[in-house]
Amino acid sequence: GIKIVTIGGGSSYTPELMEGFIKRYEELPIREIWLVDIEEGSKKLKIVGELAQRMWNATSYKVKVYTTLNRREALKDADFVTTQFRVGLLDARVKDERIPLRHGMLGQETNGAGGIFKAFRTIPVMKEIVADMRELCPDAWLINFTNPSGIITETVIKHFGWKKCIGLCNIPIISMMSELEVLHKKAEELDFQFFGLNHFHWHKTFDKRGNDLTHELIEHINEKGVGTPANIYRADFPIELHHTMNLLPCAYHSYYYMQKEMLEHCLQEFREGGTRAEQMKEVEESLFALYKNTDLSKKPEELSKRGGAYYSDAACECISAIYNDKKIHMVVSTENKGAIPCLATDSVVEVSSIISARGAQPLAWGKLRSGQKGWLQIMKAMEECTIEAALTGNYGLALEAFTMNPLIESGWGAREVLDELLIAHEKYLPQF
Ligand code: NAD
Ligand code: G6P
Ligand code: MN
Ligand code: MN
Repeated sequence: GIKIVTIGGGSSYTPELMEGFIKRYEELPIREIWLVDIEEGSKKLKIVGELAQRMWNATSYKVKVYTTLNRREALKDADFVTTQFRVGLLDARVKDERIPLRHGMLGQETNGAGGIFKAFRTIPVMKEIVADMRELCPDAWLINFTNPSGIITETVIKHFGWKKCIGLCNIPIISMMSELEVLHKKAEELDFQFFGLNHFHWHKTFDKRGNDLTHELIEHINEKGVGTPANIYRADFPIELHHTMNLLPCAYHSYYYMQKEMLEHCLQEFREGGTRAEQMKEVEESLFALYKNTDLSKKPEELSKRGGAYYSDAACECISAIYNDKKIHMVVSTENKGAIPCLATDSVVEVSSIISARGAQPLAWGKLRSGQKGWLQIMKAMEECTIEAALTGNYGLALEAFTMNPLIESGWGAREVLDELLIAHEKYLPQF
């Protein structure tokens, strides 16, 4: 039997993960699932752990769910470790979003100054997790969902040397699903190829005879936010831009291609009282009120209000593809190995890959046009500065990452935002 360990087990997303494992039990025979959390999250852990066990008890499968605050006890002999923790919980995210907005800059979970600070808080914890894994489960796969997912995955693979790591995001799945809907097709009727970075990728879509359907789909990108997760407001794109690229954007591109409109929208929400983080605190509270109900033994519909919907389809399918050597297409964050020639071979990229027992083999995209090459090189350099700053606690490097980030206005204002965030998150930033 397989032993799964989920770090950040108290997350409201855990029922989604259980549903994904239950659906796949026949091909992925799990013996036990360990949900790991810390003191701060212990109340959530207890509630969600009991719901998780009820979900398994409602099936004919004998799977035991353990909850613990002792990470090392859980990691012993694990086969797969999934990470979905948030250092500082949603209160830290509130600061990531509000502080930049107060200075008229974008405040968002994975983009701009907030995303950089989420990396600063997460990287020291990830370092300890990998050190524990080296000792307690040296052959385990690490399936990372913790944001900023691409940056964290690059740190694990390149800096901590844990090669058996795959980074995940639900955005590619949301895009593929909504395109099937737009074209009235079934999954087996379309082919997709993605390339780029986490929350910064483009893709093309084909039919099974190889006909390029990208232009046809571009005509629909402004309709009801095709490909857009629940957490993103989508300003309309000028589609001439996308027709020229002949590429479909990801929802997060709106922050970069439509920066002014997106910022205006976020500032308006901020002035009216609620950033996304604050809204999610309310959603989380009502979700846990439901989870507490001992009559509930399945994932409630309300969880779809969170932006991470369908994430279990990525996580559980990826684990099953490794375990069963499936050799299927998935879009994951993995070592570039030349798939995107204008980025270093050891950079982590988010690309179409074949998932097998050997992990992810990225599919080569080939030469990029200047419009994509330029963006990716800037964004990857910004990610590299962020990681270096997180590892060293070097103030100048943090400022350099800020200066390079297109969503942070350069100048003294950037430094003020940096200083405020350093103080606000001091408790979670031992390296600075
Ligand atoms: P959350 O605030 O509920 O945090 C999840 C749990 O992590 C909490 O119970 C918390 O106590 C715990 N935690 C904090 N520090 C920990 C530590 N050092 N060790 C173990 N557990 C710790 O977060 P959430 O809203 O459920 O999101 C969870 C994570 O998943 C976040 O990092 C979020 O960004 C990420 N996420 C990723 C995607 C994606 O596409 N990759 C989508 C949605 C969410
Ligand atoms: C999205 C993304 C995540 C993101 C999350 C936020 O779809 O892929 O990486 O951070 O959902 O969702 P939330 O509901 O917490 O705002
Ligand atoms: Mn994501
Ligand atoms: Mn900048």
